[in-house]
Amino acid sequence: MTVGGLAAASAGLVSALRRSGIDVDVLLPDYSSATDGIIETIELDVPIWAGPAVVKVVDHPQAGRIHLVDAPGLARSDPYVQPNGQGWLDNTDRFMRYSAAIAAYVRLSQPDVLHLNDWHTATALADLDPAPPTVLSLHNLAYQGATGGDWLDLIGPRSRHYEWWGGTNPLSGAIALADRVIAVSPYHVSEITQAGQGFGLEEPLRARGNTLGGILNGIDTTVWNPEQDPHIAERFSAADLAGKQRCRQQVVDEFDLVDDNSLLAVAVTRLTDQKGIDLVLPLIELLDEIPLRLAVLGSGDRMLSQKLSAAAERSDRFAFIDGYDEALAHRLIAGGDLFLMPSRFEPCGLTQMQAMRYGTIPIVTAVGGLVDTVPDLDAHPRTGRGIVMSDISSTALVSAVHRVVRRCAGRKIDTLRKRVMSIDWSWDDPASEYIKIYRDISN
Ligand code: GLC
Repeated sequence: MTVGGLAAASAGLVSALRRSGIDVDVLLPDYSSATDGIIETIELDVPIWAGPAVVKVVDHPQAGRIHLVDAPGLARSDPYVQPNGQGWLDNTDRFMRYSAAIAAYVRLSQPDVLHLNDWHTATALADLDPAPPTVLSLHNLAYQGATGGDWLDLIGPRSRHYEWWGGTNPLSGAIALADRVIAVSPYHVSEITQAGQGFGLEEPLRARGNTLGGILNGIDTTVWNPEQDPHIAERFSAADLAGKQRCRQQVVDEFDLVDDNSLLAVAVTRLTDQKGIDLVLPLIELLDEIPLRLAVLGSGDRMLSQKLSAAAERSDRFAFIDGYDEALAHRLIAGGDLFLMPSRFEPCGLTQMQAMRYGTIPIVTAVGGLVDTVPDLDAHPRTGRGIVMSDISSTALVSAVHRVVRRCAGRKIDTLRKRVMSIDWSWDDPASEYIKIYRDISN
């Protein structure tokens, strides 16, 4: 199982790289204390505060060969958050240890290129002197791992790059030290270098000049394939959309939604401020007046999930499923007519691409990767793929729903479905762009 977009994106990139003949060692935290199928255990030479640490080499049925880092505190019921939805109190210690283990493994294995993702790996570069040519991908600048200044004495010889207003900032240090910094969509690059939009890191990001770039993530088009999906009621394709109706009916029945012919909107999301799901609350109150039904699958923020559960009890046009369930995510995305993604910011976003692959029309905000992937239907009648909200508010969401209801009347929606289903979201192109960067920096 994976949690969140970073895992999905990393898995997709790695398999595309391997298909291109690149030899990749994938390091991951061993969150579940793996004991089965270990092919080899490698001891790591880490500082006392970070150890003992080992790498377990495992052949995973889906992910292929992976290297699991086992260091104190990494194994947990959830990678990042406690059962109450708050981050683990020792997340800094956990991921500083993980980063120290990465540095130790790099010293042992001497790769041609090191590719780091997000703050959880970022202090590895403090401890690598010299370091191999390094790419840092930024999946979410809202999380930087910033912590107290004491860590500067521990993380390694290049720690001064991590000093940040008297404290330690893993992400700002790696942004300064990596050879290339890559945001996960081109539009997001233009956002994060602007005042007030780079989560405080605008300056170090701007300082990178043309060594900062954007590469749009792909999705795993074998996992997200309506023609072969084992999770859905009936498979379908752009040429034959009959199965999609069955998938929609199945969702309506499963969640006991009113059985009229109105459009079914779905959302599959983490419940965090970023995702803007709180903006749907006022929409739910209007569902008797707008011809729409809505099903939301999500987990995270407790207060928001309580509000959504309460709203679902009052309405036969709205269902909320609290949790994370891969198979249900597929059923909802396949059965939906519309996919709601009212994000406040979105470095790339993967679910809007998954939705389009199933002919589910996205309603999005004009942020990050959503701008790169969803041109608005009214602004671009021939090439539009969905509805872009005029701003980030409930009012704009309600207007967008009205607009989509008009746009999708009758058979028009099928033409649109076919259009969005034909787009290639595979990792092939993004992987080639990464490979080009690996070559550039290692020559
Ligand atoms: C994070 C971002 C999301 C992105 C994903 C993979 O989850 O919030 O926008 O798609 O990482 O890069």
